[in-house]
Amino acid sequence: MTFAPSRRLTADPRGIAQAAQIWADGGLVAVPTETVYGLGADARDDTAVARIYEAKGRPSFNPLIVHVPDLAAAEIYCVFNDDAQRLAQAFWPGALTLVLPIKPDAGISKLVTAGLNTLAVRVPDHPLARDVLTAFGGPIAAPSANPSGRISPTTADHVLAGLDGRIDAVLDGGACPVGVESTIVACVGVPALLRTGGVPVEALSACLGQPLLQPDDPDTPQAPGQLASHYAPQGTVRLNATELREGEVLLGFGPVDADVNLSPSGDLIEAASRLFACLHQLDEMGAAHIAVSPIPQIGLGAAINDRLKRAAAPRD
Ligand code: TXA
Ligand code: MG
Repeated sequence: MTFAPSRRLTADPRGIAQAAQIWADGGLVAVPTETVYGLGADARDDTAVARIYEAKGRPSFNPLIVHVPDLAAAEIYCVFNDDAQRLAQAFWPGALTLVLPIKPDAGISKLVTAGLNTLAVRVPDHPLARDVLTAFGGPIAAPSANPSGRISPTTADHVLAGLDGRIDAVLDGGACPVGVESTIVACVGVPALLRTGGVPVEALSACLGQPLLQPDDPDTPQAPGQLASHYAPQGTVRLNATELREGEVLLGFGPVDADVNLSPSGDLIEAASRLFACLHQLDEMGAAHIAVSPIPQIGLGAAINDRLKRAAAPRD
């Protein structure tokens, strides 16, 4: 474990080269993606991947997403069927993760797949992520760069608030534009939605010309990292609040009088991009009880509601 303060690398060629070098040396660097900051390490290096789990305090049965600079790099590690090809062509680079059969000679650490015969892979749509992946030239395993169970980070400050001293560095690229994690789809047989996220499911089914199996369908493979309690702020969370109760702070959506508002104009894209920053802000305010305005279950609203449901779930 590292106890020295984590370094903050700058968003320039020097910072990019430093981040790639830390990965080459088996270290941990958090990098911005369009969704959230990812805590990256060389996906082929067992020790480096083990350090991710250690830094996050994460149960080791949760498999990780591998990040690559383009589709050709993903094809080194995974088998793409027609559906997977179509989705990758349409949505990469972007906030879509594909769970695909792993090739036997992929060379990916077993700690990344947690023993599964599938691999989650994505091509992030962020210039810094792309540049540092290209400079490194190999597959990078990267979960969201937060302590296990806590709110995902959308700024370098969020990363350091949770992981300072536990990782080598963070590459500071400012705020992540999408703000919620990638949508996860398994293309092993009938395409199945494992997690809602930055690409709306409506866009995926339009691209495939058929609906996806839903996460609660018995034929859908499980995403083992989908813990009931996750994204938890310090305070309790109550959803679909149309009025405030004694002692509550309102996390608003739309034209309501709220202490913190995801989007006063009711824009779901803005709300997604601000979701985790607003939860971090409520922590900083010391909010003990958080009430959340209703949010429509369409487009990015599905991903926002999924995250808020986990934030509100009973905690161990
Ligand atoms: O936007 C994102 O996806 C971010 C950025 C950093 O890329 N990453 C992210 O990673 O959200 P993480 O580790 O917080 O979530 C990964 C999810 C977990 O729910 C995990 O169970 C699932 O992906 N997963 C990974 N490999 C899988 C596999 N082979 N089969 C099913 N689910 C898998
Ligand atoms: Mg996460």
